[in-house]
Amino acid sequence: MNDATRRKIAIVTGASSGLGMEIARGLARRGYDLALVARRPEPLAALSQEIAATPAGQNRPAPLVVPLDLTALGAVDALLAALPQERFEIVALINNAGFGLMGRADQLPRDGQLDILDLNVRVLTDLTLAVMPRLTRPGGRILNVASLAAFSPGPGMAVYFASKAYVLSFSEALTQELQGSGVTVTALCPGPVATPFWNRAGAPPGLMRKMGAASATDVAEAGLLAMEAGRRRVTPGALNWTISKLAPLTPRSWLLPMMARFQAGRKSG
Ligand SMILES: NC(=O)c1ccc[n+]([C@@H]2O[C@H](COP(=O)([O-])OP(=O)(O)OC[C@H]3O[C@@H](n4cnc5c(N)ncnc54)[C@H](OP(=O)(O)O)[C@@H]3O)[C@@H](O)[C@H]2O)c1
Repeated sequence: MNDATRRKIAIVTGASSGLGMEIARGLARRGYDLALVARRPEPLAALSQEIAATPAGQNRPAPLVVPLDLTALGAVDALLAALPQERFEIVALINNAGFGLMGRADQLPRDGQLDILDLNVRVLTDLTLAVMPRLTRPGGRILNVASLAAFSPGPGMAVYFASKAYVLSFSEALTQELQGSGVTVTALCPGPVATPFWNRAGAPPGLMRKMGAASATDVAEAGLLAMEAGRRRVTPGALNWTISKLAPLTPRSWLLPMMARFQAGRKSG
């Protein structure tokens, strides 16, 4: 198969719910062909059918469904093997799959906390490194979902906040390394978003409403606009943007107890 006949594809991890699902819908509206990745096949298959039935999805193949636990041994290689170079050109990579756990590090399960690092840090890094050489040049895009949590240590969610600081740091370093290559990297740094993330994190009922969580559709759209524009970083929402600027300037001796009180308030509902 020559270049013209290869299927041009955008990979979206964590496309079975929340932000990833909205990012996939947004990409489909823009005309991207997709590979949808997450552990649960059913919501991925439903999303693929939904997209195939939209006006943008007609006259093109339905999005590929790739059910995978990305933290399993060899999963990143298995994903790329499902998209052989002869048949697929990768035009975008959306590293969105991730999770967090609320609670003190000395009280949360050790395994669960290491799983956060495995998915949010190791898998995101591995997939980025594996896909970079295969991305379309010029024009290839990487969107890494970090968080507002990237801008401060997070007592009460320590491993999660640290994992997102890594995602932001890694992504921003790549923007510099890739200058002039035709590939751009964008870090999306949302504040609270209304998704099942908070259930998995162990949040008390009603927390999303209390936090005034943003809609996943709006955050996904902000991320995609920034990705298309090749921006280094986007922090949707004026308050979140302000926090992202102030937190790194605030002395840690003030910030840490403030964050601890804030997280304890969240945990108690
Ligand atoms: N919600 C927020 O307030 C918020 C704020 C800032 C940043 N974020 C970030 O946004 C990203 C998306 O989260 P979300 O809010 O949309 O949460 P979500 O609805 O829980 O989505 C998480 C996605 O990751 C997938 N996933 C989890 N473990 C996986 C694994 N081992 N292998 C493959 N896929 C896996 C899940 O699918 P399966 O369960 O089917 O595997 C799901 O599709 C995360 O990186 C999160 O840290 C969220």
